[in-house]
Amino acid sequence: VFDSGVGGLTVLGALRARLPAERLIYLGDTARVPYGTKAPETVRRYAVNVTELLIERDCKAIVIACNTASAFALEAVSAHVAVPVIDVIRPVASAVAVSSTHGRIGVLGTRGTVASGAYLRALARIGRPLHVAQQSCPLFVPLAEEGWTSGEVPTRVAERYLADLLARESLDSLVLGCTHYPLLRDVIADVVGRCSPTPVRIHDSAEHTADCVARKLAADGLAAAAAGDGSLGF
Ligand code: DGL
Repeated sequence: VFDSGVGGLTVLGALRARLPAERLIYLGDTARVPYGTKAPETVRRYAVNVTELLIERDCKAIVIACNTASAFALEAVSAHVAVPVIDVIRPVASAVAVSSTHGRIGVLGTRGTVASGAYLRALARIGRPLHVAQQSCPLFVPLAEEGWTSGEVPTRVAERYLADLLARESLDSLVLGCTHYPLLRDVIADVVGRCSPTPVRIHDSAEHTADCVARKLAADGLAAAAAGDGSLGF
């Protein structure tokens, strides 16, 4: 399981709860965070490089717990290794495309994820007409890395990114399309509650990705025995 930093821990937590017998290894590429402001080729190079380190540790599946790397590097990573590779975009996008009450969906992500159009494509796969409004929130990543996840500073930043979007778009669903953003969930939910004229359900990738990983391991006969050691490595 890898991310540019601490964000992927939000996915790791859901994997731990869903798959208690699996041995999980987490790599946060904090030497090179952020990914979300870097060129697609750079993110691809980092993602392939990090995947090689995990494969050297005998990983039987790779979870790209980073939306930016999922957006830019899923094909490159999948082509590079012989094990299943699971991204964080398609599982949540499929779920939200179906569950959205009025088909008005907001997607928050890094500059890279927003520019890639990966969420627009993943949401369109369901074939339902949807209105999708995207917003990049690059300062959320350093705030999460610093542990500044509550109080005045993140609240002001979230208002600046979200107030106009919420007032304008009448959203029913908001996707936290960066694995760092759930660490600021309380702040984001507070701003949504104050600034949106419509009720908005907030979604993140963690549970949907964990379900997807569990299904894939079972389908490929790769699931750990119930008595597996369930260790965590970082
Ligand atoms: N947590 C990552 C994501 O989901 C990357 C954030 C960053 O490094 O910019 O996009």
